[in-house]
Amino acid sequence: MAGRLEGKRAIISGGSRGIGAAIARAYAAEGAKVVISSRKQPGLDAVAEAINADYPDSVIPMTCHIGYPEQIEEFIQQVEEKIGRPHILVNNAATNPYFGPMLQIEPTAFQKTFDVNVKGYFEMTRFVVQRWLANDEPGAVVNVSSVVGLRGAPFQGVYAMTKAAIISMTQTLSIELGEANIRVNAIAPGLVDTHFASAIVQNPDMSKMFTDKSALKRYAQPEEIAGAAVFLGSDEASYITGQTLAVDGGYTTV
Ligand SMILES: NC(=O)c1ccc[n+]([C@@H]2O[C@H](COP(=O)([O-])OP(=O)(O)OC[C@H]3O[C@@H](n4cnc5c(N)ncnc54)[C@H](OP(=O)(O)O)[C@@H]3O)[C@@H](O)[C@H]2O)c1
Repeated sequence: MAGRLEGKRAIISGGSRGIGAAIARAYAAEGAKVVISSRKQPGLDAVAEAINADYPDSVIPMTCHIGYPEQIEEFIQQVEEKIGRPHILVNNAATNPYFGPMLQIEPTAFQKTFDVNVKGYFEMTRFVVQRWLANDEPGAVVNVSSVVGLRGAPFQGVYAMTKAAIISMTQTLSIELGEANIRVNAIAPGLVDTHFASAIVQNPDMSKMFTDKSALKRYAQPEEIAGAAVFLGSDEASYITGQTLAVDGGYTTV
């Protein structure tokens, strides 16, 4: 039986670990050819090697710091040369350099959070979509946001602002690009057991604050987020755009 992403080519930013690596594996398992990117080559190489051992020639690792638009432009050009124009862009790489009262964040941390989490997603999307439009081709963008973009988030305030901005970007782009058959959706994960969230997951009090508030009373493993990214990137979601799918164990319903 053909995979749900057979014949598709995808870019997944932040693919060297955590949710991005899990999405890359799920995409490969469904038949996609994937470029994973992040800042550091060794982590990317390890993930590509592990996935390619199970799904030969499915993953290509390439560095790209999404805080630098000029790197993004060159990266998108190189992806096209290596595998052809992608059909799916998964914007997943993000950062959170500060944890504490919102108004006490240093200006440099504020700037970095917006440069990577908002401008990075925006520029990745811009460079990919420009090529779809120029070639009159459809496409799908899947933005990894967060439940903190949907609710107040003490001690993660500025990061949460960037995640809310991604939901806004998703909605507006879906309207502006709909006629070109370019779909733009977002995923809002709850707490996930990754390096990114280790300060919360490994602190029993803080992790309990999240799990107590969620219907399933637990946090997620990265693989549990990947299915939504497969679905939204695939043709099964051909009539879905502008949506934010909470994959949060019911955190936003309790
Ligand atoms: N974990 C959670 O609880 C949770 C909850 C909701 C939403 N999310 C979202 O899920 C996404 C993935 O997070 P995660 O938990 O999987 O984190 P993670 O395990 O720390 O992975 C982050 C990935 O992003 C890459 N990265 C970081 N800064 C980058 C930059 N400037 N340019 C390019 N790549 C960069 C990292 O690789 P390098 O170090 O090599 O660059 C890594 O591959 C993020 O958008 C995050 O906001 C996470």
